[in-house]
Amino acid sequence: MPGSSFGHTFRITTAGESHGVGNVVIIDGVPPGIPFSEDDVQPDLDRRRPGQSALVTQRQEADKAQILSGVFEGKTTGTPIAILVLNEDQRSKDYSDISEKYRPGHADYTFDAKFGFRDYRGGGRSSVRESIARVAGGSLAKKILTSHGIRVVSWVSQVGSVIWDAPDPEAVTLEQVEAHPTRCPDPDSAEKMAALIKQLRSEADSIGGAAMICASGVPAGLGEPVFDKVKADLAKAMLSIPAVTGFEYGVGFRAASMRGSDNNDLFIRKDGATHTATNNHGGMLGGITSGEPIVFRCAVKPTSSLAREQATVNRAGEETSILTRGRHDPCLLPRFSPIAEAMTALVLCDHLLRWRAQCPAQYQAAYPGGGRC
Ligand SMILES: Cc1cc2nc3c(=O)[nH]c(=O)nc-3n(C[C@H](O)[C@H](O)[C@H](O)COP(=O)(O)O)c2cc1C
Repeated sequence: MPGSSFGHTFRITTAGESHGVGNVVIIDGVPPGIPFSEDDVQPDLDRRRPGQSALVTQRQEADKAQILSGVFEGKTTGTPIAILVLNEDQRSKDYSDISEKYRPGHADYTFDAKFGFRDYRGGGRSSVRESIARVAGGSLAKKILTSHGIRVVSWVSQVGSVIWDAPDPEAVTLEQVEAHPTRCPDPDSAEKMAALIKQLRSEADSIGGAAMICASGVPAGLGEPVFDKVKADLAKAMLSIPAVTGFEYGVGFRAASMRGSDNNDLFIRKDGATHTATNNHGGMLGGITSGEPIVFRCAVKPTSSLAREQATVNRAGEETSILTRGRHDPCLLPRFSPIAEAMTALVLCDHLLRWRAQCPAQYQAAYPGGGRC
């Protein structure tokens, strides 16, 4: 029944709330001997953290990672790794007037319906602060993937009506993504997105958008028939992130209007290996990776907390209204990409280690010399 763990062979368990003492991740199934320290975790936490630019929430948190276990003399020991990040800027009085009212678009009502108990200090366990633990766990997954030549990058492709389609998703670099606080790699689109976000904030409103994720260098052969397909695990990983309302990979919903003769990716030989001429399948066939880049997209809803009066109902079942005070992201997309990357890395690292355990000959053929972790 509990739902705070994710993954099989490489598995994380998270704990923590938005206004509690802190957030923690326990990573189990980590191969021994991997160099790992706080310096590997901090860059991604810094990319996720609030207060990083004028476009995001101004809650100030250092989000400093502390490794509590599972690492000795700079290397993983193979035992569970616990990483703690303390909350600093809790300011829970911002939320005291909403303790009896359900905020529209939030999980207040559904948590109350399930547990009959409410931690009204912010979003509690449903808050995106929980994703700190995922990002910390994802940093180790990324490190293992990097040693296998696998790279995961996410960027903002849409804010409201401003859309940027990457001509070649595999060519998008982290440096391009990080060059602008919106995390859109195209400078013109990034400026338009930033202007739209500022405008919505000045109108006490918010705006939705979409992010792309591309994983390149993934060998053909990762994924478990039938319930643990990579596409199924990625969909679950993405939809478990707060505010994600849609997931599509490859041509996605466009497949509904395509002909088979247009959609089929024809097999070809290139550089002595089997490839496909196009990548409509988004790097996964039968839920198993094909060796082509894994490409998918997530839709993210507009921020629910608005500094304007909205109708609602209180715990006593009376109609009332609410104005959500506090500091909020006017658009969730700029902080979404590091979280999406972390969840993607966790899925791929888990499947890589599962493949190594079940199909050692294929793994060693892909990584001559017996693997790198
Ligand atoms: C990076 C990120 C930041 C978020 N920040 C806020 C915020 O400042 N205010 C808010 O109302 N919701 C925020 N959310 C979304 C809520 O956590 C989420 O909508 C809420 O928990 C309900 O969950 P659901 O949208 O998945 O149904 C954020 C989500 C993400 C991914």
